[in-house]
Amino acid sequence: MRTSHAWAQKRPNVDSNVHTPSRYRGSVSALVRRLAPAGPLYVFYPDKIRKAALRFLSAFPGRTMYAVKTNPHPLVLETIRKAGVKAFDAASIAEVRLARSVAPEAEIFFMHPVKAPEAIREAYYQHGVRNFVLDSATELKKILRETGNSADLTLFVRLSLPDNDHAAIDFSVKFGAPPDQAAHLLLECRKVARKVGLCFHVGSQTLDSGAWVRAIKVSGEVTRTSGVMPDILDIGGGFPAAYPDQMPFALEGCFANLKAALAQEGFENAELLAEPGRALVAEGASLVARVELRKGNTLYLNDGTYGGLFDAGPVLNARFETVGIRKGGWFGSEKQEFALAGPTCDSIDMMKGPFILPIDIGEGDWVEFRNMGAYSYGMRTDFNGFGQASAVCLYEHSSSKRKERKI
Ligand SMILES: Cc1ncc(COP(=O)(O)O)c(C=O)c1O
Repeated sequence: MRTSHAWAQKRPNVDSNVHTPSRYRGSVSALVRRLAPAGPLYVFYPDKIRKAALRFLSAFPGRTMYAVKTNPHPLVLETIRKAGVKAFDAASIAEVRLARSVAPEAEIFFMHPVKAPEAIREAYYQHGVRNFVLDSATELKKILRETGNSADLTLFVRLSLPDNDHAAIDFSVKFGAPPDQAAHLLLECRKVARKVGLCFHVGSQTLDSGAWVRAIKVSGEVTRTSGVMPDILDIGGGFPAAYPDQMPFALEGCFANLKAALAQEGFENAELLAEPGRALVAEGASLVARVELRKGNTLYLNDGTYGGLFDAGPVLNARFETVGIRKGGWFGSEKQEFALAGPTCDSIDMMKGPFILPIDIGEGDWVEFRNMGAYSYGMRTDFNGFGQASAVCLYEHSSSKRKERKI
């Protein structure tokens, strides 16, 4: 019998096996044909996650923390921890608990600029969290109040950046203090904190590596205005992954430019931190959905924007590499562009793509979405009762289709 994990019991929108995925080797298509999943299926690739984490760790000239929100699956956290990542960026108390349970020795950074008082208390007193972010004087007061004016805090000021057109998602719209306010907050933090940090996020899926250099320049101006040299500079996340027509830059070149900018702005002695999410896990999973109906060039799937495909919906219109998997037999070689519709009754549950798939794909076939390790699994909802997904792990190094042991 399958042992169901405690986390799985807390999450109503996933099969009990989603947190205890069975392990396989072989190809995705062979696995899908064999399992014939009737619901959405995540195929996790722990080897790819490990490699991406090792690549980032060896290239980045500072300390790497993983942004848990990107993919909070315990298997993903565990794989990243085992690869050597010793710090986690949590946005909520649930993520703090999760990170602490997977990585008891890890340093946790509570990096949401607006936190519930109960969350601050629990993080500080029960999970040993000492790193908190803020972008307002009110949040600073709240953190001090809820931690009993503790003298052992590391307080990060989140800076908002001008001109974020380079990013798929601008992260300076909702959070961050503009430079003059950030300078003032740095001063206030210096009076009460054990260590002071300055942080920013250039925006998710940033394809222009110059964005970090520009942000470091703004950070330098803030530092000079405030007269406070931060102990830590946290350059956030935003490092891109590969999607159709979007080739990520080489991390090594980006980090070389970044080091030069740090020296120029006088940050040589500050500890350097980064909070990558997508760059560590995007390649680490495929999502497989089944075609329930074909209407012309639109495929109606059993997963959509309320499930694991939010980014493909009308807000971001992201495109993903897609591969058709036929239940029995093979597709012809011709392909065409398709639009997709999710399973819910909401007409915004549609994805215009276009998604390139075999011309003869239809009911009962599957669509594999590649590079779905980031911002998919963690964003599932149970809307209309369609949220349930299951998961398996697929390992490299063998063409054998033999089922491996369960986790
Ligand atoms: C504060 C913070 N840090 C890091 C990340 C990870 O960003 P990315 O996945 O673009 O690297 C996010 C994403 O939402 C974030 O909000």
